[in-house]
Amino acid sequence: MNTVVLVSGRGSNLKAIFDAIDQRSCAAKIVGVVSDRSNAAALDLATSRGVPTRVVPLRKGDDRNLWNEVLASEVSKLEPELIVLAGFMRVLGPPLLEGFPGRIINVHPALLPAFPGHSGARDALDGGVRITGCTVHVVDSGVDTGPIIAQAAVPVLADDTADTLQARIQVQEHRLLPRVIHEIATGSIQLDPLRVGTPAGDEDRSLVVPEL
Ligand code: GAR
Repeated sequence: MNTVVLVSGRGSNLKAIFDAIDQRSCAAKIVGVVSDRSNAAALDLATSRGVPTRVVPLRKGDDRNLWNEVLASEVSKLEPELIVLAGFMRVLGPPLLEGFPGRIINVHPALLPAFPGHSGARDALDGGVRITGCTVHVVDSGVDTGPIIAQAAVPVLADDTADTLQARIQVQEHRLLPRVIHEIATGSIQLDPLRVGTPAGDEDRSLVVPEL
C-alpha cells in the first residue's frame, strides 16, 4: 500500500514504520515523506532510506489556503493510497481532506478525545489522570478529532515528568501505528469516508490494546 508520511519533527514514528516494513510486519511502501519544516530530522531519515521528500513550509503571515493547496498538490503527485500523519503538527484543510476522504490517519499521544493538541502527555499529567496512552484515528477537519481506529493504554507513574511519560507513550505509538497501517493494508481494518470498521462478519478488532 503506497503510503505518504507527513512529519514535522524527529520522526521516531516514521522510523518505527520503516523498521516494521523491514521486519515484514507492515505491508506498506513509503513512497514519500512531506514536511512543513525544512529542518525536521524525519526528512534526513527518509533521505537515508532513499525515500523522496518534499517541504511545504508555512510561515507566519503566509496564506494558509494557498499552503493547503500546495501541500495537497505535492502529496497528490506521490499518488498515495494512504496518508499517515506521524507528528505532523498542522491542521489539514479541505484540499487534502477532500482529495483523500477517509484515507488519512494520525497518531496522537493521548487517549482521545481526552487531551487533543500539541502537548498530549503534558496535558494528561496536568489533568491528573492515572491512565493515558496513544490513539490512531482518521483525520477530519478538527484538531485530533475524527473516528478512532485504535488505542493503547499507558499508566501515569507518580514520578513521571512530561518527558518520561511521552517517552513511554511513544513506545506504544511505535507498536500501534505500524500495526494499524498493516491492518489497513491487509483489509483487516476498512476505512471509508463514513465509517471505521472491519470486513463484514469479522469480530470487531478496531480497538487494539497491546499488552503493556
Ligand atoms: C508523537 O508523539 C505524536 O503522537 C505527536 O507528535 C509526536 C511526534 O514524534 N503528535 C501529536 O501530538 C499530534 N497532535 P515523532 O516525530 O518522534 O514521531
